[in-house]
Amino acid sequence: MAEKARIAVLISGAGTNMAALVYASRIGACPYEVVLVASNDPAAPGLALAAAEGIATFACPHKGMSREAHDAAMEAAVLAAGADHIVLAGYMRILSDGFVERWAGRMLNIHPSLLPLYKGLDTHARALAAGDAFAGTSVHLVTPELDAGEVLAQVRVPIVAGDTPESLAERVKLAEHQLYPRAVAEYVGRWRDPAALLARLRTLALALPETDERESHGSPGFRVGGEKGGKFFAYFADQHHGTPHIALLVRTGSMDELMNLVESQREIYFKPAYHGASGWVGIILNRPGVDWDEVAEWLERSWRSAAPKRLTRLMDIADTF
Ligand code: GRF
Repeated sequence: MAEKARIAVLISGAGTNMAALVYASRIGACPYEVVLVASNDPAAPGLALAAAEGIATFACPHKGMSREAHDAAMEAAVLAAGADHIVLAGYMRILSDGFVERWAGRMLNIHPSLLPLYKGLDTHARALAAGDAFAGTSVHLVTPELDAGEVLAQVRVPIVAGDTPESLAERVKLAEHQLYPRAVAEYVGRWRDPAALLARLRTLALALPETDERESHGSPGFRVGGEKGGKFFAYFADQHHGTPHIALLVRTGSMDELMNLVESQREIYFKPAYHGASGWVGIILNRPGVDWDEVAEWLERSWRSAAPKRLTRLMDIADTF
């Protein structure tokens, strides 16, 4: 079993979601551990609970600090704890863009509504005022725009006659305590799961024109150009030849380019056995925070260098404008 993801949980209040995350992490083969609970409020009840559970805690009141300085203090604590993901659980602070961008793909939040409905505050009162039949909760990735990142999981909670924002909030929390640990476990586990990585890669590769998938030496490969004269432009390699990497192999422009990538960004690129000799680069996928847009660009570039002229001609013309 691969080592566990290390999550830092940021709270401002009761911390019941944090508690749910902690207890779930102690049952069976949970793919994450909570290495830090941090708060902007030293009196947050959740901090005491975390401390009693033997988890490192950190508090930094935000009063009198700029947003950036406060975020930097929180981030320093997160890094000192060796966390690789940040999980927001009732953390009542707007985060600065820089902080959010540095943790893109590695920062999650839970929001008490069925997003995209009711971003921001007073979600339950708004759901009641609208006469909705259901309230609910959503786990989403954090992006600079408030409550707008990709939704990873949701659960609905029926609204019943006589509900108040408080009674509804209480029931929604019961649902949150089930949802959040599962969604976090699934998300942090995803980047180590070869099937999930291949599925994501396959979607991108087969979205390119005239592609198909064909096995090559026991690995999934992707070709362009049709049944007969098809040429490989990508391979999926799952821990080949003694490497720990689950990787995408694509064509680079030259051996120089390959070596530059490998030397300047060892955490992302490596020179694969066999294909490396012909200038193919390995892009490591089993690491947190993979930039999938960049993966898509690599696929397209590699596709282009393998595709027949009749397919690339139009793109080349478009590029000259
Ligand atoms: C939760 O309802 C969560 O959705 C929202 O803040 C609340 C935190 O509650 N973001 P708790 O501190 O986890 O009890």
